[in-house]
Amino acid sequence: MKTEIINHLIQSENFEEGLRFLSENFEDRIVFSTSFGIEDQVISHAIFSQRLKNIETFTLDTGRLFPETYAVWDKTLLQYSQPIRVYYPNADELETYVNKNGINGFYNSVELRKTCCHIRKVVPLKKALKGAKIWVTGLRAQQSDNRNGLEIIEWDEQNKLYKYNPLLHWSTDEVVHYLKQKGVPYNTLHDQNFISIGCAPCTRAVKQGEDFRAGRWWWEDKSKKECGLHK
Ligand code: ADX
Ligand code: SF4
Repeated sequence: MKTEIINHLIQSENFEEGLRFLSENFEDRIVFSTSFGIEDQVISHAIFSQRLKNIETFTLDTGRLFPETYAVWDKTLLQYSQPIRVYYPNADELETYVNKNGINGFYNSVELRKTCCHIRKVVPLKKALKGAKIWVTGLRAQQSDNRNGLEIIEWDEQNKLYKYNPLLHWSTDEVVHYLKQKGVPYNTLHDQNFISIGCAPCTRAVKQGEDFRAGRWWWEDKSKKECGLHK
């Protein structure tokens, strides 16, 4: 990627302008992944309201999402009339896994949980990223210790592309304020103390004083709580 583009994105104080600059100046494929969480809804609003057609928005439907997540997905399509491409797991792979391990086999071991995440998220992600040179995400430094060390623009060796995390240094209050101010639809589970929202059987609300990701794979040791999308 041209150094001027990288520098512009790092220095850009306004992430909406950063996304527009990227869309207008970068010739290769740019993708944005959304799980319809609050950060992703901020980025979706910026892409859709500015009609940045060169940034392809996609989501990974694991088949185990909350009804509330499907509802905000639908609302977003209705509000912006912009495409959100969906990727599904490979049906044969999933059939084999569920027939062998049961429909909720992921509770039985970290290995089975990671295999489920691999089939339902990581394999479809690889398909979605194929040929892309920039991957925009809603990652924030505040979300976990691992994410604290991220950069706004960084080289992703595993996927061989640049990751652009425009909201990296935003606080939760800033994200919520933006959504309210612009009238952006959000997942109503956030009103019931859900913070980080993934698949329904693997996400719960958080209690007072718990950290951002306490509600994800809550039965596992803290150090194991990543699903393989972000290393
Ligand atoms: S995860 O690795 O624990 O699942 P998290 O839910 O924090 O990730 O979301 C971080 C970023 O990963 C989101 O901003 C989004 O870019 C991407 N992401 C996570 N889940 C999905 C999904 N199901 N579909 C598309 N993108 C996703
Ligand atoms: Fe499977 Fe749970 Fe991972 Fe979703 S979060 S892919 S249900 S293990």
